[in-house]
Amino acid sequence: MSGIVLAAATNSIAAAPRLGKTGLFVPLQGVEVYFNYYWLRDACPSAIDRQTRERVFDISALPAPLRASTAKVENDVLHIVWAQEDHKTELPLAMLAAHNAGGIANDPADLPRKQWYGDQYPMFARFPQREIEHNQSVRARFARALIEDGIALVTGMENSDDSLTRLVHTLGPVTPSVDGLYFDVRLEVEPSNLAFTAKALELHTDLPSEEAAPGIQFLHCRENTVEGGESLFVDGASVAEELRLIRPEDFELLASHEIPFFRRHANWHYKSYQRVIELDRLGEVSGLTVSQHLQDNIDLPQHLLDLYYPAYIRFINMLKEQRFVSRFRLNAGECIVFDNHRIVHGREAYSAHSGRRHLRGCYTDRAAMRSTYRVLASQGCLIDPVNG
Ligand SMILES: [Fe+2]
Repeated sequence: MSGIVLAAATNSIAAAPRLGKTGLFVPLQGVEVYFNYYWLRDACPSAIDRQTRERVFDISALPAPLRASTAKVENDVLHIVWAQEDHKTELPLAMLAAHNAGGIANDPADLPRKQWYGDQYPMFARFPQREIEHNQSVRARFARALIEDGIALVTGMENSDDSLTRLVHTLGPVTPSVDGLYFDVRLEVEPSNLAFTAKALELHTDLPSEEAAPGIQFLHCRENTVEGGESLFVDGASVAEELRLIRPEDFELLASHEIPFFRRHANWHYKSYQRVIELDRLGEVSGLTVSQHLQDNIDLPQHLLDLYYPAYIRFINMLKEQRFVSRFRLNAGECIVFDNHRIVHGREAYSAHSGRRHLRGCYTDRAAMRSTYRVLASQGCLIDPVNG
């Protein structure tokens, strides 16, 4: 919902808008709905520049308090004449009703998350890379899967650096991390991360040590002939929402307190505070921040830790329950793409000398991905004329 105060009255439908002291009571679909004067003035279409599509109206330049002198409804349009300036505002009732129903909503990217569990792998949305690149409807469905499921599997990737670059650019620009624009997950002689060894990699989200942890992660499997090394993926939102049901006091602790994460090496020392359970503006779980290998010593008060640690350990153990974990082998030519905040990932250990394993990765921003989806949706790209 938006910040607007929606004081829907219980009065029967009014013939005309009613002027209040601080706002207007507008008859909408059988009830009077309250709209603040400042909001109505800011919502005037003249506030947005046609060329730049940015707001060019300065609400702070008006005398306060803002008042309307008259208001009427004609042909389903609200007409307001303002008291302190020579200006009229016209707003379609349909726009006000839509706002009343869903806040700023009417956002095609504001789609509910579909929670999933350990049996999800066969149901992961799958898209051939070539289709994502050349078919706008497929690209829209790819972005939609990332919004709803938080994960998608791309097939038919070429064994080249350019292949990953072209794929990420279908959603947004590559966002850098301390590792640069791209990273390679394979055995290194002097590894700076557990990922660059053959050891098991516990369930985690990437780079919580950065102030804004990466959004959408891409892992392009270039080569995988080793024994072991199965990939592990968990819908963190599913686990956290279940925790909220069965242990609400644990959920509250993990969603309320920030704990420190670090990443240290010869030439860097990152540190950031994050909440283990991230909530969106509606209070729903939007993601997790979990990384035991990048977690600093927790500096919450010691007596609070008497409660926090047991809750944290119970939650980490819940994440590992097989009913939540999708376990599968990532094959050469595939790229797993996922929301790095919502989807917790890991890897089983592999035999270092049994073959070769090389994943190449990068990130793009979640807002960039949603932007791509909004543009495609506005262009009507959601229905594939070939595949339905
Ligand atoms: Fe990772």
